[in-house]
Amino acid sequence: MASSIFTLSCILLVLLSCSAANAQLSPNFYANSCPNLQTIVLNAMTQAVNRETRIGASILRLFFHDCFVNGCDASILLDDTATFTGEKNAAPNRNSARGFEVIDTIKTRVEAACNATVSCADILALAARDGVVLLGGPSWQVTLGRRDARTASQSAANNQIPSPASNLAALTSSFAAKGLNARDLTALSGGHTIGLARCTTFRGRIYNDTNIDPNFSASRRANCPASGSDNNLAPLDIQTPARFDNNYFRNVVAQRGLLHSDQELFNGGSQDALVRTYSTNPSTFSSDFAAAMVRMGNISPLTRTSGEIRRNCRVVN
Ligand code: HEM
Repeated sequence: MASSIFTLSCILLVLLSCSAANAQLSPNFYANSCPNLQTIVLNAMTQAVNRETRIGASILRLFFHDCFVNGCDASILLDDTATFTGEKNAAPNRNSARGFEVIDTIKTRVEAACNATVSCADILALAARDGVVLLGGPSWQVTLGRRDARTASQSAANNQIPSPASNLAALTSSFAAKGLNARDLTALSGGHTIGLARCTTFRGRIYNDTNIDPNFSASRRANCPASGSDNNLAPLDIQTPARFDNNYFRNVVAQRGLLHSDQELFNGGSQDALVRTYSTNPSTFSSDFAAAMVRMGNISPLTRTSGEIRRNCRVVN
């Protein structure tokens, strides 16, 4: 009896502490204070994607890099100044993270409609979802009510965003550190069904790895020499880089993952079966991706009186 009460109170405690993190996030958070928010974001994202399809990918990645560094708090959007070191020049972001101007445009429009009300963190969460949808991917309900950080951490960005040279164990543990499991890791890696990567991020894979389709490595080497041309670009999904589908997983099964970390998900380890499932079952991938995006978006939000509603996403108020 005592032990079952103990078990019950433990379960209750776990439930309470899980929900505490995002207790204040809700899809209706701005229903009264900014009723047109979602339309403003979707319209701006539609324009941006029509101008350049890649921007949907770039903004999805910005959201990932925001959430993995001290939570989804728009810390990635802060510019460096003489007295402030932000995250934009951390190794995973420098010459790489992009899409900041689109967030600025959305913020300006949102401020015009509902002054000092909506956080940059929530704008990024909505824009990432809309980018995926506009490229043909799944939709999900974005919970809202995040507030913006007054600080950023370049060292956390360097240490907590996984490297493309990571093996499966390292990838799994960096996701576990954020409360995400291996299934989330594999589903979210499917974000690499859109967008581009620089030669410097996949050079090791195309010159050194042996678990790679030789035709694929030969064609990638043609535009990514053994040294130099670091910024030359290649699609993460060789088949449909501007379409959010399950081709990423079909590539990985065919040993055509572009990043070393991509191929780690299908290299005789624990995620092989799931990669195969996603490669043949697009609807399972879609629903897992959407659910994992919601979980990623719930990482350590600032709520209530923590943080602030930044007026300009690039600077602390
Ligand atoms: C699993 C660990 C991950 C690693 C090691 C990783 C690594 C990378 C690297 C190295 C690039 C290319 C960057 C460059 O060229 O400078 C990239 C691009 C990208 N990543 Fe990831 N990533 C991971 C997970 C994710 C997740 C979880 C998402 C989103 C759900 C994501 C979305 C993207 C997108 C969309 C791009 C293309 C961006 C663009 O074209 O601007 N990645 N990633």
